[in-house]
This record gives sequence, structure tokens and C-alpha cells, in this order.
Amino acid sequence: MAGTRIIKAARAVPGFVVTNDDLTRLVDTSDEWIITRTGINTRRVSQGETTASLASDVFKQLVTGTRRGPEDVDLLILSTVTPDYMTPQSSAFVLRDNGAKNAFAFDMNAACTAFVYALSVAEKMLTSGVYKTAAVISSDTLTKITDWSDRGTCVLFGDGAGGVLMEYDGGPGGILAEDLHTDGEMATAIRGGRLPVNNAWHKDEGPVEPFVIMDGRATYDFTVREIPKSISATLEKARLTMDDIKYVVCHQANARILNGIAKKLKTGMDKFFVTINEFGNTSSSSVPIALSVMLERGMIEKGDKIMFAGFGAGLTWGTLIYQY
Ligand code: ACO
Repeated sequence: MAGTRIIKAARAVPGFVVTNDDLTRLVDTSDEWIITRTGINTRRVSQGETTASLASDVFKQLVTGTRRGPEDVDLLILSTVTPDYMTPQSSAFVLRDNGAKNAFAFDMNAACTAFVYALSVAEKMLTSGVYKTAAVISSDTLTKITDWSDRGTCVLFGDGAGGVLMEYDGGPGGILAEDLHTDGEMATAIRGGRLPVNNAWHKDEGPVEPFVIMDGRATYDFTVREIPKSISATLEKARLTMDDIKYVVCHQANARILNGIAKKLKTGMDKFFVTINEFGNTSSSSVPIALSVMLERGMIEKGDKIMFAGFGAGLTWGTLIYQY
């Protein structure tokens, strides 16, 4: 594998900030409970921004100042669990709104792990030699599938998008190893947005489940058990150790989960970049949002090895090591 380069990362989040205190006016909760149980202080909530508009903003930033224009992108993968329409795919609007006429685009749904999956897919397509420049974007407006009367979930989620521009250059950079999984047995552990089959001849009598329903404790335990195993497996495949990894950019679902993973790996939290305090859980966008902040702060240099890790509904989980 390897041979690709991440040229740029970018993020777009709504301007509207909701604090924990704001949530105490909706449900029986407290700033103290939310901070100690999740690490979240604030989250961004859409005031009209859509999954496609946030993703379009990211795309625009990705092709700005890179000596590449929208028409140089020939592949767009947009990961989302909250598309604006069932059809067309939200990525079609991103192409339209940016005049990206030479790309083919599809949406990917693999919940909070999807950015890690999408990087893997994009790299395979770029190294095939068929495509040259890929935009890999994650965008979600989770707040539209959030039950604002359920304190167990509504304190967790935020809206946002992040992404990267990637190219094949045949150099030493790219994915050094990966470990991706889906456990279909756990398919209903986190779910939402069920569309019942109703037609002229059939009436669905099943539950109406428009909002996210989550077995939080089971997901928590699963993640703290499986992610360290996946990280170790990826390190082994790449013949590396944690000492070789500069940062672990993990899905931001709960600060305690990140602590639990670090503890299991017997490594310091200083390797784990944390943005959950500011943005909450933005589904698969949380990894590229974190990456864009890190690059902006000059935390990553050419040659650095970064571990990306995701987990979420499906249940999906996976890790990969990307050499910059
Ligand atoms: N404020 C106050 N109390 C609350 C709140 C709240 N917002 N939410 C739950 N509680 C209460 C519960 O009712 C319960 O009360 P009880 O003991 O009287 O029954 C108590 O707090 C403990 O509840 P738990 O669910 O056991 O709390 P926990 O410590 O597990 O934290 C949380 C809950 C934050 C959801 C945690 O389990 C978690 O982060 N799980 C993982 C979530 C995750 O990673 N999801 C994957 C990605 S999400 C996606 O894919 C869209």
C-alpha cells in the first residue's frame, strides 16, 4: 500500500454554539454531569446549514490555495448518516455547488467509522491509477435525528463537516496498515431514521424510529474493548509500536472512552488529540475535524505516522496508520 499524499484538510461547522447550560433548559441534566461523563462543553448546531452545504464549504476550502481547482478532483467520497435526501446522494450537491464537473461522487454510510473506511477506499482507488485527485469528506447534521427530549443522547451530538484532499504521488506516504471491521450482530445497538415499508399493499406495523436510539453503555464497553485490539493489530501489521505513532486521531464520542483506550494501550493521553469538548460527537466528521485543527496548529510534519481510529453504529470500527 501507500503512495498517496494528504494535500490539505479542512472543516466547516455551524456558527451557532449550544452550551451544556443551554441543554439544562431542555432536559433534566447538568453541566457537571455532561462534562464528567462525556468531556463535552459545547457543540455546534445547524441554523439552516445542511449536510451538503457544510460538505460544500469543506470542498471549497480543500481546492483553494492548492494549485488545484474544482475540476481537478475526479473522485468525491462523502460519508454521512444524515443525507439531505434519500436520493440524490448529498455528494451530488457538493459537485454542483463547486462546479466540479470531472468528478464522480458517491455517499458512504458507515456511521462514525466512515472517514476511516473512506480513506481506505479512496487510497485503493488512487493507487489503482484510474483516479488522480480525491476529496474525502465527512459531513453530518446529527441534530436533525436527535431526540431533544432524551437526555441520554441529546447532550452528545453536534453538527459539522471535515475532509481531506488526497493524491497519488508514488511516494512513501499513505496507508501503512489498516484493520477494519463490522459486527452485524450488533446492528441495532445504535440506530435511527428507520423508513418503514408502506405501500399500496402493505402497512408496516413496526416501531417508528426517526431519532438516534443508542445502547450507550454497551457501545462504551465494546469500544474500550475492541479499539485497543484493533490498534495493536494495525501496529503489528505495520511492524510498528505505539512509540512510532505521533498521534492517535480517534472518533470523538466521549473523552472517557479516549482515556480508557489510552489506559489499555499503556500510553499517555498526550498522543490522543481531543476536540470533543468543543464540537461534541459529530459522527464520522469528528476525525477530519480534529485532523484539520492539528494541521492548522502545525502539529503534524512530513514523515509523521498518524493513527486514525473510528467506531460507531453497525457496529463498525477500524484503525489505520497514515504516514504523512
Ligand atoms: N444528565 C444526567 N443524567 C443522565 C444523563 C444526562 N444527560 N444521561 C443519562 N443520565 C443518567 C441515566 O439516566 C442513569 O441514571 P440512573 O442510574 O438513575 O438510571 C445514569 O445517568 C447513568 O447512565 P449511563 O447510561 O450508565 O451513563 P454512562 O456513564 O454510561 O454515560 C454515555 C452515558 C455518555 C452515553 C456513555 O455510555 C457513552 O458515551 N457511550 C458511548 C457512546 C458512543 O460511543 N456512541 C458511538 C457513537 S454515536 C453514533 O454512532 C451516532
